[in-house]
Amino acid sequence: MIIEPRMRGFICLTAHPEGAAQNVKKQIEYVKSKGAINGAKKVLVIGASTGFGLSSRITSAFGSDASTIGVFFEKPPMEGKTASPGWYNSAAFEKEAHAAGLYAKSINGDAFSKEIKEQVINLIKEDLGQVDLVIYSLASPVRVHPETGVTHRSSLKPIGQTFSNKTVDFHTGKVSEVSIEPANEEDIENTVTVMGGEDWAMWIDALKDAGVLAEGALTVAYSYIGPALTEAVYRKGTIGRAKDHLEATAFEISDKLKDIHGKAYVSVNKALVTQASSAIPVIPLYISLLYKIMKEMGLHEGTIEQMQRLYAERLYNGGEMPLDDKGRIRIDDWEMRDDVQAKVAELWKKADTDNLAEIGDLEGYRKDFYNLFGFDYENVDYKADTNEVVAIESIK
Ligand SMILES: NC(=O)c1ccc[n+]([C@@H]2O[C@H](COP(=O)([O-])OP(=O)(O)OC[C@H]3O[C@@H](n4cnc5c(N)ncnc54)[C@H](O)[C@@H]3O)[C@@H](O)[C@H]2O)c1
Repeated sequence: MIIEPRMRGFICLTAHPEGAAQNVKKQIEYVKSKGAINGAKKVLVIGASTGFGLSSRITSAFGSDASTIGVFFEKPPMEGKTASPGWYNSAAFEKEAHAAGLYAKSINGDAFSKEIKEQVINLIKEDLGQVDLVIYSLASPVRVHPETGVTHRSSLKPIGQTFSNKTVDFHTGKVSEVSIEPANEEDIENTVTVMGGEDWAMWIDALKDAGVLAEGALTVAYSYIGPALTEAVYRKGTIGRAKDHLEATAFEISDKLKDIHGKAYVSVNKALVTQASSAIPVIPLYISLLYKIMKEMGLHEGTIEQMQRLYAERLYNGGEMPLDDKGRIRIDDWEMRDDVQAKVAELWKKADTDNLAEIGDLEGYRKDFYNLFGFDYENVDYKADTNEVVAIESIK
């Protein structure tokens, strides 16, 4: 079929397999260009198909020659209907990994469930014996609790008072005021249940009880802090409470891993265009200004540059791991630099519909967004008839 982007609100309903393959190839080339990383050799990535998780998987495989098991929740294609982008990314990743002689298998299903945890444990036992790195990179709006069966939905709301600020519709470039009503207690609890650390801890408990975590195993989950500008809706809002919980969970997991000399870390990453971040009001405007400044200053990174730096300069730097005063790894260090933030704050005051295309990197935002779905890559013929029914070589 001829596959074109079909937008609905903050999501794109179609995805292009050839573009997804380009995305994966570019990331692999970048990691290879940076040289070998003396990292883990057997890696489980939970949330492996898009964003930071996909880039983590690529960094492990092509930076450290690691065997990888990827877990994700993606929609397979059907005749006449494209898959979700993470499906095509994973198909392309496995193809490249297998061609390079690397072990790579994937499991598609709900990572919050007991069944998927069991499937992953069985696969590790059968194929790898144990894993020495577990990346936890889920971003989901909903979680069915495995013990109660209750469906929890997360929300992106301020706490305490209504938040009003500027936002942009990145499709039209229109800057407008947005007001978001504050969360109630239930919203907060639900968001913490979905995006907090409970499921991460459940994964590590299950893996450890099954004996599939190697001596000295590491586990890393991802968080975000961001500037004062987005604080009310992000770090001090419902999602921030979930991140507080996730960060606190790292210490609990580290305690439980002491006997195998394992450790849990949270890495605070940079704000980037992903499916998850596009849905948060205010963030797209912040990101388009941030991109402009960071590109001008030569500091811009995408998910692959971030993950390569996380592995090479933090997790596997051969020495002491630099941590902040709350025990977190910081690779949002360039985003949070005073000079970067001062410039963004200056632009924020001025930003409106008329000047945003010039003072912000709206074009860069849009391109990254289209790229997420495999569109807008130079080397892809989007007019060509394309096979949408692409298989992942070793899907379970
Ligand atoms: N995007 C940002 O700006 C940003 C910045 C810092 C930290 N983070 C954090 O990084 C993490 C990953 O976010 P992202 O932006 O890369 O997200 P993303 O939407 O690109 O990726 C989410 C992944 O989770 C998987 N997933 C979702 N629900 C699932 C389920 N029920 N079972 C199995 N897999 C499931 C998806 O298939 C996908 O692989 C999140 O914790 C996020 O808060 C994001």
